[in-house]
Amino acid sequence: MGEVTARLDDLPLRDDLRGMTPYGAPQAPLPVALNVNENTHPVPDEVAGDILDSIALALRDVNRYPDREFLALREAFAEYLGEGITADQIWAANGSNEVLQHVLQAFGGPGRTAFGFGPTYSMYPLLTRATGATWVAGTRDDDFTLTPESAAAQVAEMDPDVIFLCAPNNPTGTPMPLDVITAVYDASRGMVVVDEAYEEFAPHDEPSAVTLLGGRERLIVSRTMSKAFAFAGARVGYLAADPAVVDALRLVRLPYHLSALTQAAATAALRHAPVMLGMVDEIVAQRDRISATLEALGYQPHPSWTNFVLFGGVDDPAATFRALFDRGILIRDVGIAHHLRVTAGTEAETTAFLDALASLGSKS
Ligand SMILES: Cc1ncc(COP(=O)(O)O)c(C=O)c1O
Repeated sequence: MGEVTARLDDLPLRDDLRGMTPYGAPQAPLPVALNVNENTHPVPDEVAGDILDSIALALRDVNRYPDREFLALREAFAEYLGEGITADQIWAANGSNEVLQHVLQAFGGPGRTAFGFGPTYSMYPLLTRATGATWVAGTRDDDFTLTPESAAAQVAEMDPDVIFLCAPNNPTGTPMPLDVITAVYDASRGMVVVDEAYEEFAPHDEPSAVTLLGGRERLIVSRTMSKAFAFAGARVGYLAADPAVVDALRLVRLPYHLSALTQAAATAALRHAPVMLGMVDEIVAQRDRISATLEALGYQPHPSWTNFVLFGGVDDPAATFRALFDRGILIRDVGIAHHLRVTAGTEAETTAFLDALASLGSKS
């Protein structure tokens, strides 16, 4: 006993999972963690009390299964999104990762393909393969932008069953104009998923892909409460689409997949959307400060409509990552040559990062 010697290869694992590595953003208890694009501001005190009251109320009925259709929460999301969206167009799950998994379970799966323009969110290929489909990567221009012509041509050639458009894109921060989305939709046969995880950090007057939903039954817009709403630990993501798409997702979800406590917490948080989103402008200010300072230090920050900045001009990303780590600052090496990615933190965290980077020596 006590000798656990089996290795993964010894188990009768699915053949198509052999050799895969799990999602693995480093988790380290450093004072300044700017590596996974969280909102580093806590839930405001004035809202926390109301959320707690709602959770306490839900706890009284926790002997019962929750509302399988999470109607109150869907109505709250519909109201938050506006644009005439109704509750029957809303789906939600434990983080937008699970929302995307539901989409792949319903529309991907064995013998099918999912597609995205790399570099893009690292979970798309993992979720695709885990649900038995094949991942196909398209390409972007050198500055990570996409033209409608190039995007449509690549999609027409690959003819995928599911297409992921990360808007704006992680890990590059790149905005995605609506004409790229409509061009991809018109050139495709499969489901088109616009992942708007960072939408609230885009300029307020820029329209969301939610405005494109009418009359496009293969279009899905997914969102999360993890970023702008400072709710990453609660695990709540959602999407808006045609009601028929929502019917398809009901076929693959586990019954009662959203706990009563999650539903209560998220519904309460949405009642306070303006306060919950109060830190967005401050985070955007820190993001723009990061870009300006990086440029002054001789690095090449890429334009970002998110809460993070990808920057080039890093001679040795692994060495810079390590030097910052040793100074108590965790950022992300996303595997793009000569680049690193940093999340905009509070003003103090952002200052700590910029000062530490500057102390490594100016580039110019
Ligand atoms: C583009 C994108 N989509 C989805 C997610 C998943 O968010 P969550 O599962 O926390 O809702 C992330 C998280 O970093 C992301 O960057």
